[in-house]
Amino acid sequence: MTDAQSDAKEALLADSSIQIVALARSAKLDAARAGFDCGSEPLNRYFKELVTQDVSRNLASCFVAYDIANEPSNVTPLGYYTLSSASVPMLDLPIALTKKLPRYPSVPAVRLGRLAVSMQAQGKGLGGVLLVDAIARTQRSDIAAYAMVVDAKDEAAVRFYEHFGFVRFSSLTSMLYLRLS
Ligand SMILES: CC(C)(COP(=O)(O)OP(=O)(O)OC[C@H]1O[C@@H](n2cnc3c(N)ncnc32)[C@H](O)[C@@H]1OP(=O)(O)O)[C@@H](O)C(=O)NCCC(=O)NCCS
Repeated sequence: MTDAQSDAKEALLADSSIQIVALARSAKLDAARAGFDCGSEPLNRYFKELVTQDVSRNLASCFVAYDIANEPSNVTPLGYYTLSSASVPMLDLPIALTKKLPRYPSVPAVRLGRLAVSMQAQGKGLGGVLLVDAIARTQRSDIAAYAMVVDAKDEAAVRFYEHFGFVRFSSLTSMLYLRLS
């Protein structure tokens, strides 16, 4: 775990009123999606209009952060992320990694499809907390994944992921990976 990842984990433990739950398990959070605003229209629209279709078709799982201190009067989604299974062609990985691996055409991975924090909650550590939760959830799974992969939506997002130890596949792409161990 990198320093940035452990800092984010500590933040989660310190602020124990933040909970992260599967969207599929919370009817209240599901009903409260309409007010979500992270400042990015595609990420807002996905969460408000499309995510439940992906979840019901097993194309993605969605996990949502909220503050239990505000329950039961106010259950507001503060951030969300999605996870799906993926694979990474072996040729996309650096030789330093592949020389230690069997000659399979690809390695199993988990895709962090989307990650967003509501504007009111940004800059307070929640993005890092969600990212570390996604990594820990993947590592806890009984299904093997060699890496987590993400397609950052812009250069600021690339820097956010790099801050947490993700590495660009190449300088020409906004795709990054994190080797899971
Ligand atoms: C990107 C986003 C998820 C970050 O969430 P956040 O809660 O504001 O970020 P955090 O407060 O958790 O920041 C965690 C760390 O990352 C760093 N960080 C955050 N954004 C950064 C950026 N653009 N560049 C570099 N570092 C960044 C912070 O400085 C902080 O570092 P620290 O722990 O050393 O203080 C959030 O701003 C967001 O939802 N933006 C709109 C949607 C988006 O761009 N999503 C990215 C998906 S591709």
